[in-house]
Amino acid sequence: MFDPEKFVNESIEKLKAEIDGTAIIACSGGVDSTVAAVLVARAIGDRLYGVHVDTGYMRKNESKEVAELLRNMGVNLQVDEAAEEFSKELKGAVEPEAKRKAIGHTFIRIFDRYAKDIEAKYLVQGTIAPDWIESGGDLRDVIKSHHNVGALPDDMDLKLVEPLRDLYKDEVRKLGRYLGISIAEKQPFPGPGLAIRIIGEPTLEKADIVREACFIVEEELELAASEGKMELPWQYFAVLTPVQTVGVQGDVRAYGYTVCVRAVQSIDGMTAAYSKIPHEVLEKISIRITNSMPGKINRVVYDITNKPPGTIEWE
Ligand code: XMP
Repeated sequence: MFDPEKFVNESIEKLKAEIDGTAIIACSGGVDSTVAAVLVARAIGDRLYGVHVDTGYMRKNESKEVAELLRNMGVNLQVDEAAEEFSKELKGAVEPEAKRKAIGHTFIRIFDRYAKDIEAKYLVQGTIAPDWIESGGDLRDVIKSHHNVGALPDDMDLKLVEPLRDLYKDEVRKLGRYLGISIAEKQPFPGPGLAIRIIGEPTLEKADIVREACFIVEEELELAASEGKMELPWQYFAVLTPVQTVGVQGDVRAYGYTVCVRAVQSIDGMTAAYSKIPHEVLEKISIRITNSMPGKINRVVYDITNKPPGTIEWE
């Protein structure tokens, strides 16, 4: 049986002995990096620098909440407001892979800047057992919390510290609760964030649209599930398509975008079935999305594709 108290005490002793300089960790807000950051901060205090990068493509309030949580848990956290920097790099990026690369490189560049600034000697990662078992054990060059979107530059000579590498997800959750971290059951969120939920070239204006639409989908489905109208899907969000059509809003014809709502049931994301959301709930989502952004969105559609043949995300 996993004993979180024993694990924490032993880890803190080990980390104190192991880390003799400054350390850095990328804090995405995910459970693993959050638990790793809090644990290491308990051992070495402010010599651990957490860096949260707000790419401009995060969900509504996400960066603020991540920062608040980590700081309340005693992590010395810097937030890099990098929306402009990411947006510049994403100019002209239409293909999903081009977007992922641009985001990955930008993320690494910012992270590298911080690491040099604080003269970091150690890189802390929230790697857990399934990460290295499934990937054959070679995660040396990967910033796991950003989901393999980029490799560390060769001249960034950091020693790797992975305090959770022998734990499984349920043990990490137990550990998190023991440390007093409020760990909500979060739905999966792709490393490149909302940028891949904007089909075509991402811009900050489009990010605002898809962020608001995602927020409405989340709020309405969570409400409907709490009222027993439906089961909460495994993952649920909105996608901004590049399709513009003529619509009528008020008395005015508007040439607006189409938002697609996506919600699926799944166990592990490998296969998925589209969620059978009641029509009244879909209608409420549609009305809220179109009302909240008059002139910008005049059509909302629902994706009824399973995986396969579709994927969960639209990219
Ligand atoms: P697809 O769209 O391929 O997605 O059916 C399967 C699951 O993976 C998530 N996803 C990602 N997760 N980094 C991640 O950690 C990523 O870059 C990434 N891209 C997709 C997706 O949200 C879904 O849960």
